[in-house]
Amino acid sequence: MTARHLLTLLSLLVLVVPALAQGAPRSGAEVYRQACASCHASDGRGAPRQVTGIEAIPDFTVCAFVTREPNPDWYAVAHEGGPVRAFAQTMPAFGGALSEAEIKGALDHIRAFCPSKHWPRGDLNFPRPLFTEKAFPEDEAVLSTRVASKGQGEVMSKLVFEKRVSARGQLELIVPFGFRDVEGTGWRPGLGDIALGTKWALLHSLRTGTILSLAGEVILPTGRKDQGFGKGTTVFEPFLSFGQILPGHTFLQLQVGAEIPTQTSVAEPELFWRAVVGISLHQGFGRLWAPMIELLAARELEGDKPIPWDLVPQLQVTLSRRHHVRLAGGVQIPLNETETRKPQVVFYLLWDTFDGTFFAGW
Ligand code: HEC
Repeated sequence: MTARHLLTLLSLLVLVVPALAQGAPRSGAEVYRQACASCHASDGRGAPRQVTGIEAIPDFTVCAFVTREPNPDWYAVAHEGGPVRAFAQTMPAFGGALSEAEIKGALDHIRAFCPSKHWPRGDLNFPRPLFTEKAFPEDEAVLSTRVASKGQGEVMSKLVFEKRVSARGQLELIVPFGFRDVEGTGWRPGLGDIALGTKWALLHSLRTGTILSLAGEVILPTGRKDQGFGKGTTVFEPFLSFGQILPGHTFLQLQVGAEIPTQTSVAEPELFWRAVVGISLHQGFGRLWAPMIELLAARELEGDKPIPWDLVPQLQVTLSRRHHVRLAGGVQIPLNETETRKPQVVFYLLWDTFDGTFFAGW
């Protein structure tokens, strides 16, 4: 054997021996057993307080909890420790001890503690656009406001309460109110048309990144039509909402529906469709920025009025460390009929009520 052969053999050993010593990569179940189970228990229900001395270890077998947060949020918590999302310091940081694949494996193992396939995963819960209704069943309170930037004076807000009632179902209450510059009488406050809604996730798959929901609203004529606060008749609004994960942290959301007034002499029936594309930009393990652009259109079923088209560039950003309080704003820009339709500024403040009270988690 020549010296060259010996050298080759040696360098091979140098490469192979450490690889053998490391062994095959650990499975998610193994990582969980070795690094997580001391607190979270092998069955995921959380080790008793007498053993850990820690109160409030979550129960990972509760599907409503374990399916809710998207992967990047949980990865941040496991990598950086609880405080990165304003959780307890007793949830340690594993970023130094475990590889990315090991953390992800352990998290997959935790997700599997929910045996039911009915719960859509939080990764299908895309950032809320200003107009397009999301497909994901939510626990949220949203205060959104629209301000006419020119022309007729109008500041209209609505309070939206969304409550998840099962794996796939959601109930909703919408209370609009605001101020209008009514001809001759000046600015007047008023209540708009209160709406009740329900939503049902028809199908969802994290594998294909798809969610589709059927929803319906009943809009009651509680607002005064003569002052511009309401439609003057009960309106039924059935619609479909669709969401799709696209490559590179981008997403697409669509909504198509109809507004069907019970008295067509008072209000016109119409079809509407809305589409939005956006991107989720994570600022390290911290804030989430989501720029989006929305396209809106509606068509009255009778007559041949032109279809109004609007473009809505907008930005959503998380305010709280827990990401449960978010702010979004944008401008609704008419693309046609610009003589009669003016740009409007729209913004909302959103609070995910499941993640704690408004003031917790900052
Ligand atoms: C020393 C105890 C301890 C260990 C070990 C531990 N955790 Fe935790 N973990 C906690 C506590 C306590 C909480 C609850 C924090 C809170 O709600 O404020 C928690 C919460 C979590 C959450 C929920 C975050 C949320 O959105 O509410 C995840 C996910 C999690 N742990 C993953 C892991 C993983 C993965 C491991 C192992 C790699 C692990 N934990 C190891 C104590 C621990």
